[in-house]
Amino acid sequence: METRAQPENPFTIAEADYRARHWRATTSGTLRPGTADHKRAVADMFRETFNPYRPSVIAWPKLDPETLKRITSLPIWDIAVETEGKARLRMAAYAATMTDPEMRDAIARNAWEENRHKEVLTKLVEAYQIGMAPEPPYVVPRDAEWAYLVTGFSECVDSFFAFGLFELAGRSGLFPEELIETFEPVMQEECRHILLFANWLAWHRTTLTLYRRVRFEFRVLAVWLFLAYERIGMVRTLDGNGEVHDQDNNFTISGTKDVSDTDIGLRDILGVCLSENARRFSGYDPRLKRPRMMPTIAALLRTVLPRRRPGSPANRSANIPPSP
Ligand SMILES: [Fe+2]
Ligand SMILES: [Fe+2]
Repeated sequence: METRAQPENPFTIAEADYRARHWRATTSGTLRPGTADHKRAVADMFRETFNPYRPSVIAWPKLDPETLKRITSLPIWDIAVETEGKARLRMAAYAATMTDPEMRDAIARNAWEENRHKEVLTKLVEAYQIGMAPEPPYVVPRDAEWAYLVTGFSECVDSFFAFGLFELAGRSGLFPEELIETFEPVMQEECRHILLFANWLAWHRTTLTLYRRVRFEFRVLAVWLFLAYERIGMVRTLDGNGEVHDQDNNFTISGTKDVSDTDIGLRDILGVCLSENARRFSGYDPRLKRPRMMPTIAALLRTVLPRRRPGSPANRSANIPPSP
């Protein structure tokens, strides 16, 4: 896919940003997965909400020594770069197996955007001289569907928590506003990605015979079990030189203390994740499917987790209102 031109002035940048967050299909009526209207809407949504920012022109803000240390010591950079690289490869590999031109085009574009995320992170790592382990080799998956499912569901989990963490990081004032603004389009892009994944999943299910559908549902279950296993604690990875590295594969779930200077309860963190998730999806056609698993689990968890005392000091300093 060719690189599109960068908007030339703040007005067009703002316009591109607005278009990336708001989209509605022109057709009326319902958009039922399995219909041509739904499939076309999914492909159109993904293409028309493309944000043409360019990683190479990002001006990274100069950081004071304390902020620089806070950023460079986050235990995420190796795994973040590797995750984007793997996502690109897996999405491209799955797209190459697809025969449907509209869905294939959307997933190939998603792969391209993952590579752009990797470029953004690589530029940040260079700008702040973050020490990185050599990247492991990226191997084309033998089972492209399995790899795509793992990546898609992982993004659904990670994005849900990342939306909340990103909001808390912004409220904390621990990170410069320019840095938050630079990552804002990346965060919104992940919202589009999981919107695409949820709609691909709904569409894909309608294309399967009963036998293949049952087999597919077992695969989905196996993916969730795999993800639960993978996320139990820190994960040890081998770098390109065969050295062991402890990277926090669970940062999106456990990282609140690193992006905020307050001790916020899990119930309130989930509340922020839920409201940010709803806000980020709110501009897209409500007839498209949304990822439901994480918001459902979070809402259920909130019903059993203890409430903090109204206006407790920790929640006050994180700008979290008393729990309803
Ligand atoms: Fe990404
Ligand atoms: Fe993504």
